[in-house]
Amino acid sequence: MKKYTEMTAAELKTELEEVTGLYEDLKAKGLSLNMARGKPGKAQLDMVSGIMDVLKSDSDFMCDGIDARNYGNLEGLPSCRALFADLLGVEPKNVFIGGSASLQMMYDTIAKAYTHGRVNGDGPWAKLDKVKWLCPAPGYDRHFGISQSFGMEMITVPMTAEGLDMDVVEKLIQDPEVRGMWCVPKYSNPDGIIYSAETIRRIASMKPAAKDFLLMWDNAYCVHEFFGDYVPFPDILAECAEYGNEDMVFEFASTSKITFPGAGISVFVCSDNNMAFMKKLLNAQIISYDKVNQLRHVRFLKDKEGVLELMKKHAAILGPKFKCVLDRLDAEIAPRGIASWQHPNGGYFVSVNTMPGIAKATWQLCKEAGLTMTDAGATFPYKNDPNDSNMRVAPSLPPTEQLEQAMEIYCVSMRLAALQKLCKE
Ligand SMILES: Cc1ncc(COP(=O)(O)O)c(C=O)c1O
Repeated sequence: MKKYTEMTAAELKTELEEVTGLYEDLKAKGLSLNMARGKPGKAQLDMVSGIMDVLKSDSDFMCDGIDARNYGNLEGLPSCRALFADLLGVEPKNVFIGGSASLQMMYDTIAKAYTHGRVNGDGPWAKLDKVKWLCPAPGYDRHFGISQSFGMEMITVPMTAEGLDMDVVEKLIQDPEVRGMWCVPKYSNPDGIIYSAETIRRIASMKPAAKDFLLMWDNAYCVHEFFGDYVPFPDILAECAEYGNEDMVFEFASTSKITFPGAGISVFVCSDNNMAFMKKLLNAQIISYDKVNQLRHVRFLKDKEGVLELMKKHAAILGPKFKCVLDRLDAEIAPRGIASWQHPNGGYFVSVNTMPGIAKATWQLCKEAGLTMTDAGATFPYKNDPNDSNMRVAPSLPPTEQLEQAMEIYCVSMRLAALQKLCKE
């Protein structure tokens, strides 16, 4: 098999005719497939629905001497805080258990900075002329959505194999208008990269010009290996504390991809100062979160070992799906030299970088053939991928048979988009 970029004009024309035929055949099947979002598949949800059966009799609701059915314990059930403290390698006193979505807590943490300022700042950000925000990209579209909804000026920071480009970050944080940064440090969305120890050290030791700089450490995939063993990961709060930066960081996690997305529990981890600050503000907002759900999670998951055991079961379902995607790319795309991708061991995505200028066209061809993909461009601030190259593949939702069909459409669409471009040039 020859690389497309090494083909002669005549060879490209022949290949275009052939691939157009393949594409039209696929389109004629009238399929309706979806690889757009990182949702767990039905088998994963079925596997955890036993969580609904763990609380039956009146006495089941008692935990730590607390009746989980009643008001109280704003910061969460002690057993639930302890469970997450164990998972994230922090102290329970630094863990706050919230509602069913970490994204909502991230939004709320930033909203509070706008309305009430930060524990170490000079007042509400809403009074500032401008808030600039560092956005490692490709990144998570919903992070960028939060930044955009507050009118922040988003600044793209390139990703590297080590995490994000810290040379760039260290320059940018000298601007006092740069007030924060998104990070998905383990199995980053979408690249699936684990930040290296050196990257984490450089992040933790940052000296931003803005003294109330907010590091949003979204550890959404902290226990989400689908190939291989659990990879231990440093505690960012302790790392920051080593450099006197403990008030800079909020870490987030949730059980969205452990139990039920949208019906699990979420947490933030922060310094003692930030915890006191947040509790005071949250106390005006809610009396207490859903401790019944917290208790269900404690009883069902039990402890760190229980969580890791369950994650192995998720991996048994997810691993073959990721293998299907990666095998297809390796077989169909790699020899033609029209894209490259990471081979992640965890997270929920495969991040594909096509040759420049064909991601949108590939997306459109997929759509017309019945396959919905994450919008091309969505992984960049303002949906603006300067190279029109990055595409996020989410293999978790479709059953494996459908995934095979989806990958066939995806690979043929990418080949067609590449050939159409190369033939024009
Ligand atoms: C990096 C990242 N953070 C957060 C979320 C959403 O988490 P939650 O359901 O807890 O809001 C996702 C979901 O895809 C994600 O990829």
